[in-house]
Amino acid sequence: TKKAVLGPLVGAVDQGTSSTRFLVFNSKTAELLSHHQVEIKQEFPREGWVEQDPKEILMSVYECIEKTCEKLEQLNIDISNIKAIGVSNQRETTVVWDKITGEPLYNAVVWLDLRTQSTVENLSKRIPGNNNFVKSKTGLPLSTYFSAVKVRWLLDNVRNVQKAVEEDRALFGTIDSWLIWCLTGGTNGGVHCTDVTNASRTMLFNIHSLEWDKELCEFFEIPMKILPNVRSSSEIYGLMKISHSLKAGALEGVPISGCLGDQSAALVGQMCFRDGQAKNTYGTGCFLLCNTGRKCVFSEHGLLTTVAYKLGRDKPVYYALEGSVAIAGAVIRWLRDNLGIINSSDEIEKLAKEVGTSYGCYFVPAFSGLYAPYWEPSARGIICGLTQFTNKCHIAFAALEAVCFQTREILDAMNRDCGIPLSHLQVDGGMTNNKILMQLQADILYIPVVKPSMPETTALGAAMAAGAAEGVGVWSLEPEDLSAVTMERFEPQINAEESEIRYSTWKKAVMKSMGWVT
Ligand code: G3P
Repeated sequence: TKKAVLGPLVGAVDQGTSSTRFLVFNSKTAELLSHHQVEIKQEFPREGWVEQDPKEILMSVYECIEKTCEKLEQLNIDISNIKAIGVSNQRETTVVWDKITGEPLYNAVVWLDLRTQSTVENLSKRIPGNNNFVKSKTGLPLSTYFSAVKVRWLLDNVRNVQKAVEEDRALFGTIDSWLIWCLTGGTNGGVHCTDVTNASRTMLFNIHSLEWDKELCEFFEIPMKILPNVRSSSEIYGLMKISHSLKAGALEGVPISGCLGDQSAALVGQMCFRDGQAKNTYGTGCFLLCNTGRKCVFSEHGLLTTVAYKLGRDKPVYYALEGSVAIAGAVIRWLRDNLGIINSSDEIEKLAKEVGTSYGCYFVPAFSGLYAPYWEPSARGIICGLTQFTNKCHIAFAALEAVCFQTREILDAMNRDCGIPLSHLQVDGGMTNNKILMQLQADILYIPVVKPSMPETTALGAAMAAGAAEGVGVWSLEPEDLSAVTMERFEPQINAEESEIRYSTWKKAVMKSMGWVT
């Protein structure tokens, strides 16, 4: 059979907290041609600790590449048309590995992990000058969320890490760095780099000078020699060099030329290139980013200032305000894995639909404390408002509502910081396939919610950055290129008063979740 003739193709690795995907797009039409997804294990060795195996993450990438290539072959699509590969990833998750053996020196400490709470408390007593020392340089509050404290913990507690640093064998990276290093050859010449968006989540990176900050590294006592080189989000970092498997090996020599933290990638994939454009992505957590253009805007309402993207070495940097919610899709996984009230994540929609209400039940999934806008590490999850009438369907509904209420809180904060309220919300991510969730979201925000028919915008953003890189040049980032994207729209269907009553009861529940841990 003849192979289908297409324009140049671009692949994207989307390594999220819950799963890894590899997707291949047609660079001329942005059409998704094929993809494969593999779920990733999370380990909870102690209360509040969250770890993943960096090798399992790497193997899942190989497996996804392999399976996607197989599917492309079945479609008669020639994989040698893949001209570039982009990487997008869960941010902040921290890996330290040995550059001589290529082995991780400890499990990846996941962004949700709370083990560094006492490290954070101790450090906050020693902040030099005013309390703004960390925030003014990084845009971030001092929190367990970001990489610097995770590296500090590894240096303090893992002998192998200390030893490797002393012997100059240790490399630190977020998941992008770990993957790019491995995919470009690992011990055989792997490139140790990251991009500005991922760097901006480490709490070691100065978002104004776009360099690692010496004072911050001294404050956290992190040796600068273990840090990756910081590059733009769109340039050739290195070429694929993998001997792992036949199909994945077919991509040997393809440039890796796009790299963005997953939330930045989704902003690019949703083409939020203008000041004031925003998107909300529903993954393990939920992250609302609003492009603030070339200005660094500092929030008065609990949002983060972060690097949105820098699409080329000589291109300007763009910033974003971000509302981060730790637990969104993770609450569904918890209902599946810990309570067993569903067997697969999509069953949640069926349960919620059976009742169409939480019947006064509110679920605050503060499993890792509360992030924006509260930044309250003492909070823990609660389910309240229960009666003998309450059943698993109501709890399922309350879990979905919790995702929507948390989004309402960060949207309110965003509106207050930006001054101009958002007229609608652009959404994406796996959970947006859940129509009940989308309708609830429109009802609770009381503005329309708009979703692209292809929800894999995170991968699309990474592919766009990779395809547009200098020396690749198969993807044009001109907005009209992708104007044909079809959208689905959800309008509010309840009255404004009802929406407000539900929201204020939610806030009461949030107050009850706080101060649980002292
Ligand atoms: O900051 C954490 C974020 O990047 C995780 O994204 O898609 O795994 O929820 P996700």
